[in-house]
Amino acid sequence: MQHSVRHAYDRVAPYRLKCDSLGISPDDLNSLADISRFPLTSKGDLRDHYPFGLTAVPMEDVVRIHASSGTTGKPTVVTYTRDDIEHWANLVARCIRASGGTRKDILHVSYGYGLFTGGLGAHYGAERLGCAVIPMGGGQTARQIQLIQDFKPSIIMITPSYMLNVIDEMERQGMDPRESSLKIGIFGAEPWTNSMRAEIEDRLGIDALDIYGLSEVGGPGVANEYIESKNGPTIWEDHYYPEIIDPETGDVLPEGEYGELVITTLTREALPMIRYRTRDLTRLLPPDKGPMRRMDKITGRSDDMLIIRGVNMFPSQVEEILLGLDGLSPHYQLLVERQASMDTVTVFVESRELLDASSMAVLRTELGRRIKSLIGLSTTVELSGPGSIERSEGKARRVIDKRPALR
Ligand code: DLL
Repeated sequence: MQHSVRHAYDRVAPYRLKCDSLGISPDDLNSLADISRFPLTSKGDLRDHYPFGLTAVPMEDVVRIHASSGTTGKPTVVTYTRDDIEHWANLVARCIRASGGTRKDILHVSYGYGLFTGGLGAHYGAERLGCAVIPMGGGQTARQIQLIQDFKPSIIMITPSYMLNVIDEMERQGMDPRESSLKIGIFGAEPWTNSMRAEIEDRLGIDALDIYGLSEVGGPGVANEYIESKNGPTIWEDHYYPEIIDPETGDVLPEGEYGELVITTLTREALPMIRYRTRDLTRLLPPDKGPMRRMDKITGRSDDMLIIRGVNMFPSQVEEILLGLDGLSPHYQLLVERQASMDTVTVFVESRELLDASSMAVLRTELGRRIKSLIGLSTTVELSGPGSIERSEGKARRVIDKRPALR
């Protein structure tokens, strides 16, 4: 950590200025706890210094550039040296190994290739472990299924929402997804609940593992679950130092409390990130296998939290509730609007099968009732037949917020 903080301070002028203005320097880092005295870094810092202003090495030492689009403004750009790519491949290989994979596996990558870190991150890691990699990428659902049938991969790396879409399509084609060659799925890039895990494991007959990461600190492979326990991703603390802060005050919270995950990279050369605010909400848990700590499954992002008439609501809460109701499919979308200065939420869901009008009415009323009693918010539920909700081929779009932006 001392090395990484000094590297950022010496080579990244904007970070040095931030430290100087707080009167702190790398010499003040004498224990792990001292890191909390250093300034936080945010997506805004990356945007302000777009594209390469936070890169700590000469461009001749950079061998790869990724970028994440985000919803507003300029993309955030991430640079890698040759050693960064090496560490990244090793970490993703470790994730696949923790998920139960070995060099004997055939591994199908459905994360998008290109500027997104998912596809190439998974690909390099799987090759490093020695798997036979199928670099399918996202989209072309019928082709995905064809290749799964023909090449017989045992592992798939894909977003959980796209996995559901692929499972639906297998069923539509008359296949039994449980008969496929797949044994293990490594899912991430978007929040998903344990109820979603149960749904995928049951319908596909696989073990479903959680992989976590974000572009700004390198991509997938910051943390991964172990197949033996599946109780929250173990954070690879030899490369990433985690803290949990109160998203409002920025104060570090005691171990075990929920808040925003902040990550300090320990080995990254091209883009060292000191105390990067992930916006992801979780808590730290003690190690269970090996010496490194775990994180709880992410409940949402602080910027995904909807505040509706004073009530805080996360899409994942709705996911948990609808998966608890027999007859509803796991696909959903929330539409937020403002009508006469009053915020309203419409929950779009679909039935698993075609139902008669009275059964639909019962389901719709019951979902609205459960959301009201568990989240405390009255919503309008729009229930329609199978296939009516937009399907994901990557990260699902769970919320459509049509409220006018705050000025
Ligand atoms: O999504 C990197 C990745 C690719 C991770 C493939 C795992 C698998 P970004 O596009 O920068 O990078 O998005 C990062 O996605 O801050 C979280 O909000 C969310 N996210 C990623 N993994 C998980 C997960 C990639 N396992 C953002 N659970 C992060 C919940 C996740 N959210």
